[in-house]
Amino acid sequence: MVDRAPSTPAGAAAPLSRPLVDKGLVKWHLIVAMTWFGIALLAGLFYSLQLLQHWPLPKIAVLSPGRIRMIHTNMIAFGFLTNAFLAMLYWTIPRLTGQRVLSSKLGWLIFAAWNGIVLATYVGLHLGQAQAIEWGETPVWVDPLVVVGALLVWLQFYPPIVRTREKALYVSLWYFSAGFIWLGLTYIMGNFFPQYLVAGNAAGPLLGLYIHDLVGLWVTPMGWGMMYFFVPIILKKPIWSHALSLVGFWGLAFFYPLQGVHHFLGSPIPMFAQYSAVISTIAIEIVVTTVIINFFMTWRGSEGTLQRSIPIRWFWVGALNYFITCLQCAFQVTLTFQQVIHFTDWVVGHAHMVMFGVFSFWIFGMTEHLWPKLTGHEWWSSGLRRWSFWLTTLGLGSMFLVLTSSGVVEGFMSLNLAPRATILDTVRPFWMVRSITGLAIIAGFACLAVNMVMTARAGRITHVDTEYTPYEEVGDEEVALGAV
Ligand code: HEM
Repeated sequence: MVDRAPSTPAGAAAPLSRPLVDKGLVKWHLIVAMTWFGIALLAGLFYSLQLLQHWPLPKIAVLSPGRIRMIHTNMIAFGFLTNAFLAMLYWTIPRLTGQRVLSSKLGWLIFAAWNGIVLATYVGLHLGQAQAIEWGETPVWVDPLVVVGALLVWLQFYPPIVRTREKALYVSLWYFSAGFIWLGLTYIMGNFFPQYLVAGNAAGPLLGLYIHDLVGLWVTPMGWGMMYFFVPIILKKPIWSHALSLVGFWGLAFFYPLQGVHHFLGSPIPMFAQYSAVISTIAIEIVVTTVIINFFMTWRGSEGTLQRSIPIRWFWVGALNYFITCLQCAFQVTLTFQQVIHFTDWVVGHAHMVMFGVFSFWIFGMTEHLWPKLTGHEWWSSGLRRWSFWLTTLGLGSMFLVLTSSGVVEGFMSLNLAPRATILDTVRPFWMVRSITGLAIIAGFACLAVNMVMTARAGRITHVDTEYTPYEEVGDEEVALGAV
């Protein structure tokens, strides 16, 4: 592994006949990611209305609430996160390796194929063709296409990593290389095995493994690799400890796949499997802590950036949210605590905090940093940037608090054998607040989306050619472009 920040992309200093980075692919993956994100947010808001018994579109099968819930989660995972990660890979891998990806044409094929798959999933879910696998609801006829999509991604991004003349690979590349393989394997395991090979109680651990590995072996390595790339560059200093980032990588690889059963604690799955999931979850908490420590120790000494740099704000709050989820996990993984919070909103709050509060916040940090470089324009409105950050942060923070509280209330009421109808009546005010926080999040996202469109159309033209310029030579203008 290379012992420095990724500030000098190998080969990027020399003039190139063809751009090292295909900015069009980065830009379009990001645009489409944001579009799916908007659709997923609306689906989340609508579904929250169902839980308030105010479903606005009754008696229309294609718009029934159960289908909308699946659209919410699937569009987040496959539409938003995966497109945003592809954008990130097209930007980072050529810079880290000094090599282009295999082919721009293949890039556009992947772009069309992947978004065709997401669209097919979207339509299939509306039509009620969901597969009975949580987060694997993609219709069965779409599943083989996803595997082909994962193979194409592998084909596109491995060649630059193999061809690089760097003697050692920066840690982000470790995460990315492993993540490509894990994505395909995880998807095959979760979507084909329970569907065709394993049934009943034996399928439970596989499903738990799938849900968790989709986050742990695809979203997490991409997210960590992204953070380890962008944070040192924006702060203009190396990460604090490369040894710690190595511990993170091997810890993730070893412990993450073992913890899927923690979704089914207290179920008929054999106790040895449940206990081993608890132990590996504790281990993974330590691993996640290494990433959080590395982030904050890298940031230490640059405290002013929290005020000056909006990308750093997103990364910083994301790291803080990571710490909160990690702390929360220490409690919720115990069997004692599970007796209270299992099947409650506590878990939904946890899911939003990780998927949204950590990885989506880091994606927003990346977007804040990259968008001016992709469009060649400075941000159109600094006010909208701030509004977007605050509305989203406060919206998510209050959503998390309200869901965690309602989870505890629901849990204790259930333990005291309160009738389900009474529990639902009690938590409904919490759910009303959840819908209001959802509106705040949507408003925050609208600020970001409008600002992105207006920046592309009417932002002030920047005077820096970011195409070939290595980061450390950009100097103060880099700060003016993306970091502030
Ligand atoms: C407008 C903002 C949002 C609203 C109103 C909202 C609302 C909801 C609702 C009502 C559910 C179903 C909860 C249940 O079945 O009890 C849900 C589930 C979920 N949402 Fe959201 N959501 C929003 C944004 C997001 C974002 C941005 C993400 C991720 C980036 C996300 C990730 C999830 C996940 C992973 C679940 C499944 C949770 C589980 O099954 O435990 N949501 N959301």
